[in-house]
Order: sequence, then structure tokens, then C-alpha cells
Amino acid sequence: MPDSIGKSAATTLALTIDGKPVTVPAGTLLIEAVKQAGIEVPSFCYYPGLALQGACRMCVVAIEKMPKLQTACTTVVSNGMVVRTDNEEVKNSRKAMLEFLLTNHPLDCPVCDKGGECELQDMVFRYGAAETRFMERKLHHEEKKFSSLVYYDRPRCILCYRCIRVCDEGMDVNALGIAFRGAHSEIIPNRGDELACEECGMCIDICPVGALTSGTYRYKTRPWELTYSGTICNHCGDGCKTTLSVRNNVVIRANNRDHSGINSEFLCVKGRFGWDFVNSEKRLTAPLVRSNGGQQATSWEEALSLTAERVKQVIATHGSDAVAVIGSNRTTNEENYVLERFARTVLGTNNLDHHRTADYSSLVRALTAAGATDRYASMQDVFEASSILLLGNDPTHQHPLLAYQIRQAVRQHGASLYVINSSEIKLGLRQASCFVKVQPGREAEAVHALSAGGGSGELSALRERLQQQSDAVIVFGDEVRGAAVEELVRWGLTLPGRTRFVALGDYANSRGAADMGVLPHTLPGYFPVSDAAARERYESVWGAKIPSRPGRNIRSILAGAGSGEIKALLVFGSNPVKTFKLDKAALGRLNFLMVAELFLTPTAKLADVVLPATSFAEKAGTVTNTCGQVQATKKTMRKAGTRSDLEILLALARLLGQPLPYSSPDDVLREIIARVPGYAIALPGLLVGRALATRPEGMPPELERPDLVFSSRDSLFTSGSVSQNSWALNCVEESKESVGTIF
Ligand code: SF4
Ligand code: SF4
Ligand code: SF4
Ligand code: FES
Repeated sequence: MPDSIGKSAATTLALTIDGKPVTVPAGTLLIEAVKQAGIEVPSFCYYPGLALQGACRMCVVAIEKMPKLQTACTTVVSNGMVVRTDNEEVKNSRKAMLEFLLTNHPLDCPVCDKGGECELQDMVFRYGAAETRFMERKLHHEEKKFSSLVYYDRPRCILCYRCIRVCDEGMDVNALGIAFRGAHSEIIPNRGDELACEECGMCIDICPVGALTSGTYRYKTRPWELTYSGTICNHCGDGCKTTLSVRNNVVIRANNRDHSGINSEFLCVKGRFGWDFVNSEKRLTAPLVRSNGGQQATSWEEALSLTAERVKQVIATHGSDAVAVIGSNRTTNEENYVLERFARTVLGTNNLDHHRTADYSSLVRALTAAGATDRYASMQDVFEASSILLLGNDPTHQHPLLAYQIRQAVRQHGASLYVINSSEIKLGLRQASCFVKVQPGREAEAVHALSAGGGSGELSALRERLQQQSDAVIVFGDEVRGAAVEELVRWGLTLPGRTRFVALGDYANSRGAADMGVLPHTLPGYFPVSDAAARERYESVWGAKIPSRPGRNIRSILAGAGSGEIKALLVFGSNPVKTFKLDKAALGRLNFLMVAELFLTPTAKLADVVLPATSFAEKAGTVTNTCGQVQATKKTMRKAGTRSDLEILLALARLLGQPLPYSSPDDVLREIIARVPGYAIALPGLLVGRALATRPEGMPPELERPDLVFSSRDSLFTSGSVSQNSWALNCVEESKESVGTIF
């Protein structure tokens, strides 16, 4: 439910609140008008974006010419209304409601997780209802463990129903309900005594009191003992803003405290609980070098010197193209930009790639060719869209925020959702007004049918319906790549209005890795490396030559490592052995393998040198979400013994005799803003937590081969190698269920 009913920007209404004149659009709820006037109004059951409940009566106000107090959350503003929120009658009513809520509430604030940030505690302080006239014995209930991540304490529950509504309306999971009546009412989970759900923790976050608590945070600390750091979730490509709560250099909790960013308070299970890999005891904290048949801990100086030495030897003996670099989907834009410069100018090779999980290049190519670089859709565009076409992917698992925004678009704005998929995905079954199932691998044919006509009757009907819509947002997964992306864009741009596009890549900086040119054939901004003018753009800044011939793609790099043509391989935050299902022998002919990683992954186990890298929580920079929106990450804690990829690259460049002129991520970001077309973002916006749109405008070459783009098909509970080191993501029963399971 929106925070207004039938709001029309064209009509405004004037009212007076506590003597202040206020103007609001017609249809605005009185509670929102009061907030707009800068006046606090207590509300337990009202929550913006959720259906109205009218259960707690805390928001009562006096309205002139109305005989009784009215609930501001269910009253729509009318012209000339005169409202008082601060008279004695209102105050006494609120105080009485608090006294009533406290009749069975335990006085355990000193040990309750919510103490210090509890809405009930705050209101009792405000209205002074600390004493009670009720002398009856309190009803006691033992705390219940709904799951390893969600606990319920019935005596603290004030029955506001926020948790039930957010799980139903926000999450479309409907895992919580109410049992019994009156004072015996309690919240119950959906699988007997347990929850079977997405474990997103939205119910915990939204609970105004300490009735629902988190299995990872409960009884660990008090909110005032924590420091708070706003950064970006490091799991999927959606780019949720998250506030990490830290005590003694250890992350204790994640939520989005300031509600800035593109997700407001939303976080999925990975964002809310799956950050705990940063505290894992399995983190690498000392460099390893291979000697005596094993990997032995050593100093940073020795590990870096050895790496530089071995790379120099390979270049001197076999040339620069005997070296290759594989980059990461999670490291920052600044690290990716410097990695790309390091490979091309310090090592002198374009043998540089990463695991591509979406075909961003083809999207950029198609939009640039059409002169439509203003048609990259933002996450907000998805939320506000009147029609959405989703081709491939399963956002419920792979892009939880996007799935949430699609659900909100359908529920709050009446958006039409059209889904084409080879599986019966939840969004297709429950939210779509039209769901067309295609054979696996036939998504490109579906695109052709949309574009050229033909195909099944269902596809023709869908095509006709889309042609009647305006301003559609077209979202596609890795099933659509290469020429199919270009055809989809050409056709999409013929639809009425301003069609916009999103390509869905798997991880926190999949988009940034491509945008920053961690690709064998394109420089930052998708300019072809074979284009002399494009090279000159960067050569003039870097003062170094860039090789003109496109390098090997990731499959060719790995094949070269197997055949012996590639002699030295440097891998940053990537696990190709697992991703490409390589056996041990596949890298056996390399002379030298260096891996910078958080954990001893299967690839790191084969390395001659392993460098312990910092996690997202331990470094600053920016990342670009799958919609192309840039957000700032913040250094939240320190991890002894680790170094960021940026520090590693700068040290290696120095040791290789070609130091790079950066001393911090800020230096690199300034260069990106100045030099990469489409990335001229405004720094102040970044600092206040905004997500800033980018518009790449290069003309990259066509996709070389389709098998270069493929998703890892992560579930809600997996996220490449980091999720294996998250207790939270592995402790819940649902994590053992298959990807397609619907809760
Ligand atoms: S954790 Fe999320 S999905 Fe599970 S009950 Fe709470 S709101 Fe619903
Ligand atoms: S558990 Fe929390 S959110 Fe749910 S009804 Fe009780 S007080 Fe409200
Ligand atoms: S939706 Fe993606 S970015 Fe957001 S919290 Fe979940 S994993 Fe993180
Ligand atoms: S907030 Fe208005 S009745 Fe609960």
C-alpha cells in the first residue's frame, strides 16, 4: 500500500498541523503530512509501503470538527483540515495505549537486543507511561527458535503485524501468521514450529521491539557499543547499501540503518547475514609460497619479490604475451582500472579477462549503435516501471533486490510483468500477467520471435501486449547474449515511449569489471583496444604504449595455460579452477601461478604464490551495480596480514620497474571520472550514499564466442567461494534445497 491513496500531483491540499500551514498532494495520508511538517508522530503498526493495519492507535490526533481522536495512519488529508498532535487529550491517549501495551511486556530492556533502538522504549520515555495500574500476573512464554537466524520472544511482541505484512507483501513468502486470540495471540511460522522461508530477516529489521531477533546478533552487544559504516553488499550484482555494525574490529551485524542507497531497508539473506565470511577463521592472513612440495607462509616482501622476479623471467624469455591476468567480479572499480592498466602497460599484454556473467559489452554496443546511451535502466526505474519484460534469469535467487523491486512495481504501481523463461520461476508464476515458458537455450529464438514476429501464439500475444505499453523496462539474464542482445535492443527501442534495459550479472562488481576494461579487447568504457584513437586517449595519460592486438579471452588464457603457451598467470579474486571445472593438470604447464584471494580456494591451492587479500569490508572504493549505478564502499575494519588488490598491484608495478602514480583509491577514482567516458559522476553524491548512473558509450567488438558469458546460477544462499565460508548462509535448512525452490 502506498503512503497515499489515489495521490494526484496535479491537486494539492492545504491543512494546518499544530498551527503550521502544510500543503500536500491530494490523497496523502495524514500521518505522512504530519511527518512532512517536521512533527513526530508515534506509529507502531503503520509502515510506509505496507498495507494499513490501524491496530495500535499510537498515531491518534485531534481533528477539528471530528468528535473523537482519529488515527493519522488511516485518515486521508482533506482541504482545510485543522489538526492537533500535541494537546493533552492526544498525549493522554498515547500514554494510555503505552500502558496497555506494557501490561504483559517484560521489563527486560537491559538485556533485550532492541534496548537503545526500541520504538516502544522510546515512546515510553517520551510519554511517561512507566507506571502501570495492572497488577495481574504476566503471561510467560519461552522464546522460540523459528530458524537458526530468526528467534521469537512472544512476551515482547506488541502485535503490530508489521512482520506478517512485510513477509507477505514485501517478500511474497507469507511465512508468518497469527495464532490464538486476544492476550494469547502470537506470531507463528509456517512449518510447524519452524520457518521455511527466504531467511531475509526483513521481519527482524522491521519489528519495532525486540520480539524478533537475529541468530547472528542476539545477546552479543548493545547498539551504543557499535560503530556504523555504510558500504555496499559484496554478494550479488544489485548493489544494496548496507550499514555494517562493528565492535572491536569485528563486524557484528548488517542492516541499512540510514535507508539511503537503492534498497532503503531491504537486504536479502546474503546481505543481512552472509557478510560473516569476513570474520572467518579460514581467511588467509600471511602470503604463501610453494617450497618443499607444499605452500609455506612467508613475508609480503618475499612473496611480492618472488612474483615480480618470476614474471620478469617469463617476459624476458617468452615475451609479454606469455603472461595473462584474470580479474575479479567483486573487487572495486579502482582496482579493476589499475589491474587493466597494469596488464596492458606494465606487463605489456592484453591477455586479460574475468568470468563474464552478463553480456554488458553487447548491451553497450547495441545502445551506442542506436544513439540511445540514455536507456540504461536504474533500479529505481524498475520500481517505477509500468511494464517490465524479464527474459531469463531467476531474480528471486540471483537478484533478490531486483525481484523485490519488481514485486513492489506490480503491487504498488500496478505494473505489468511479462516473463519469458525456461523454468517456472516464482516471479513468472506469482507476479507475471503473462508467463511464456520456452525450451532451455531457446531464449534467443524468443527474442527473434518478439523482434521479427512468428514463434508461438503465446509469444505473439506477449509481443502485442508489449506494443501497447509505454516506457517498458527490459531485463535479461545471461541466456540472452551476443547478437540476441543487439536484436532485443533494436526491437525494444521500437516500443512506445522510453524503453530502458538492464543486463543481469552475478556479483557485486561484475558490471564494473567490464566497464573498467578487464577484457581482452576493450579499454575502460568499452573502447576497442585495436582503435588507435582509443589507445591514444589512455596512452596520453599513462605515458605508456598499449598493445594494439586484442588479447586472449579467459577460455583461451586457460587453454594456453594447459598447452604451455601461457607461462605465467596472475589471478585476482577469481577461482577459475572451480568456475571452469578444470582438473589439476589443466594449469600444470604454467611456469608460475600467483593468486590473490581471501581463502585457499581450489585455484589458490595450485598457486606458487598466494597473496592474502582484503575483503570488501576492509577497503574503500566504488562498485557499479548491474544497472550501471556507482556507489561508494567504505573501509570498515582492518584485517592484519592482508592487503588490497590495489596495494598489491602498486607494489608489483614498483618491483617491475614501472611504478604507477596512485597512492589511494581516491586518486584512481578521480582519473576514472576524468578519463572514462560515461563515468563522469559527481563525487558529492557518492559521499552522501547516492547511486550514480553511468552511461558507457564505447563501441566494443561483437561477442567472440557465446560460452564466454555464463552465470554461476547462485541460489539465495550461495555466492561463489565466499558463501562456503559463511556460517549464516550454510546453517539454515533452506540452503540445502535446490535453486528453483519457492518458499
Ligand atoms: S526472514 Fe524474511 S522470508 Fe523469513 S519470515 Fe522473516 S520476512 Fe519472511
Ligand atoms: S513480532 Fe514484532 S513485528 Fe511482529 S507483530 Fe510482534 S512486535 Fe510486531
Ligand atoms: S540483493 Fe544482492 S546486493 Fe542486495 S543484499 Fe542481497 S545479495 Fe546483497
Ligand atoms: S500507527 Fe496508526 S494505528 Fe498504528
